[in-house]
Amino acid sequence: MVTDPTIACAHVSPWPGRDLQVRDVSLLRSDGSQEPGHLLVRDGRIAAIAADLPRQDDVPVLQGGGHLLMPGVIDPQVHFRDPGLTRKEDLITASRACLRGGVTGYLEMPNTIPPTVNRAALQAKLDRAAAVSRVHYGFFIGACGDGSNLADLTSEATASGQACGVKMFMGTGHGVLECSDPEVQEQVFATGDKLIAVHAEDQQRILARRAALLEPGTEPAADCHSEIQDEQAALLATRRALELSNRHGRRLHILHLSTGIEAEHLRTHKPPQVTTEVTPQHLLLNRSAYERLGTRAQMNPPLRSERDNGLLWQALVDGVIDCIATDHAPHTAAEKARPYPHAPSGMPGVETALPLMLSQAMAGRCSLADVSRWMSARPAEIYGIPAKGRLEVGCDADLVLVDLETVRTVRDGDVVSKCGWTPFAGWELVGWPVATVVAGIVGFERGRFNEDCRGSQLQFDP
Ligand code: DOR
Repeated sequence: MVTDPTIACAHVSPWPGRDLQVRDVSLLRSDGSQEPGHLLVRDGRIAAIAADLPRQDDVPVLQGGGHLLMPGVIDPQVHFRDPGLTRKEDLITASRACLRGGVTGYLEMPNTIPPTVNRAALQAKLDRAAAVSRVHYGFFIGACGDGSNLADLTSEATASGQACGVKMFMGTGHGVLECSDPEVQEQVFATGDKLIAVHAEDQQRILARRAALLEPGTEPAADCHSEIQDEQAALLATRRALELSNRHGRRLHILHLSTGIEAEHLRTHKPPQVTTEVTPQHLLLNRSAYERLGTRAQMNPPLRSERDNGLLWQALVDGVIDCIATDHAPHTAAEKARPYPHAPSGMPGVETALPLMLSQAMAGRCSLADVSRWMSARPAEIYGIPAKGRLEVGCDADLVLVDLETVRTVRDGDVVSKCGWTPFAGWELVGWPVATVVAGIVGFERGRFNEDCRGSQLQFDP
């Protein structure tokens, strides 16, 4: 006998299985259409989507309340600090933050301690994530700047190690991961066949400008950061990455595009093997944010001008930019309270990215289907993640139910990430997740977390 199949997600333990019915929702389909109906999950997969799906007495119900049901967000660039920097964030706090933000899968960067530069370090992250990550996970392997881990980047090594891609920091430090020597960059592009994701800022130019603009011992205002790491530093590196990709016929993904000049360059020089992304910060914040936020607004690549916001938005709408990533890079509030240049660069993002983008859609700047394509379908396609990013029968039941009507103010106090702050504090947004479902398991519902929810290792087509 079923007494009350409605899920109170914080209390269901052990989880009864991966069957679920999501009832009375507006379904955002992969062709962009929207229709009222219900969705049935069997064994973690979408088994049926229909306007008149009969109620199944043996399957728990997530009441949709007429809200929009979308595929879960796949965030293709995050820095989760685990292992080594867990005072800032760890895989538990980060993946809970993902649940709150509707993110059901993430691809994490190698700048941890130790850095993810070999199979053992990658396996250690996979093991830790298998034990604690509330959402699905994948990890990059980093290219060492001295070329010492080329053997870990060969096709055989990356295939067996199951990295989602090779990360190359062309500039901005990061110890052994700083890969700014053009000869080593060339060797990395010539080794293996996995997608290479680049942080495109030119280290030589940054160092020269730092020497010219930053007087040792002084603490200039934080907006000096955008002067030192200027748009030319970004364009130079982006052009070089394109050259390398073309010469070696290599899959290239340019991370967090930040300038209009890069977007305009890519508009006419983007070969089929190249994809790119933009963050909500680079779309919606600009140098004026330093006044309000000080070094909290400091990130790499830096915030630019309002004009850049507009050009990046246009490139996204036109399909020059393929997808959205958060570059979630949490630092403690104390670290961010230090003056420039002593504060670390980076901002958190997984909790706010979806409501920010859905609020833009509700304001008429794009469609809901655009947001879903940029945040779910395209990341899955770019990284070759099968059966994800779409509301279709047979796909994995990674879902987010969002409320497009209730306006809520972003508050530091609501942040679940260990860092406890957000650059968007004070913004009034719609599109907050009501529930987040990970392969049929309700991980988050109406403010409560299911601590038994676990994601699994993302698979990547060769
Ligand atoms: O601002 C940034 N912070 N950009 C990056 O690419 C790295 C990140 C971090 O890990 O803190």
